[in-house]
Amino acid sequence: MRKILFVCLGNICRSPLAEGLFLQKLEQKGIRHLFQIDSAGTSNYHIGELPDPRTRQNAEQNGLILHSSARQFKVDDFIEFDLIVAMDQSNRNDILKQQSSLIDNPATVLLMRDFDKNHPGTGVPDPYQGGLSGFQQVFDILDHCTDNLLDHLVRGE
Ligand code: 4NP
Repeated sequence: MRKILFVCLGNICRSPLAEGLFLQKLEQKGIRHLFQIDSAGTSNYHIGELPDPRTRQNAEQNGLILHSSARQFKVDDFIEFDLIVAMDQSNRNDILKQQSSLIDNPATVLLMRDFDKNHPGTGVPDPYQGGLSGFQQVFDILDHCTDNLLDHLVRGE
């Protein structure tokens, strides 16, 4: 069982979409049962909320229904998950700060765009303050990155 957690700031735009896209790809490949998938935010701003209405509307236009409810990242997630995928460098730094206080810290913390061959090491842009086109841009980036992440995991890398 591979256990993967997607993390952004609010857990209402980028990481729930990454979670939904990854789940959809697992289901399409018939390997959903091999994975535990979740998402979380480093902040407590939107705990309990559905994904942002703009994220849900954009996802639906692309054939994806999102059901997740926002929660905050917690230290136990380092134990519960073996791979944590952060949406940008700020999210990753916030996670690594919490990990540095642990004696036993097994989870690997990567950046989502490590799986974007053309833009490794960069962030998935935060669409929250911007216009609707930003949501489609995020969808396209995450669609591409989750494809590559899944390929990487299926190949056992
Ligand atoms: P996310 O986007 O991190 O992709 O969920 C944001 C959502 C909310 C806020 C910032 C980013 N906020 O400041 O409330």
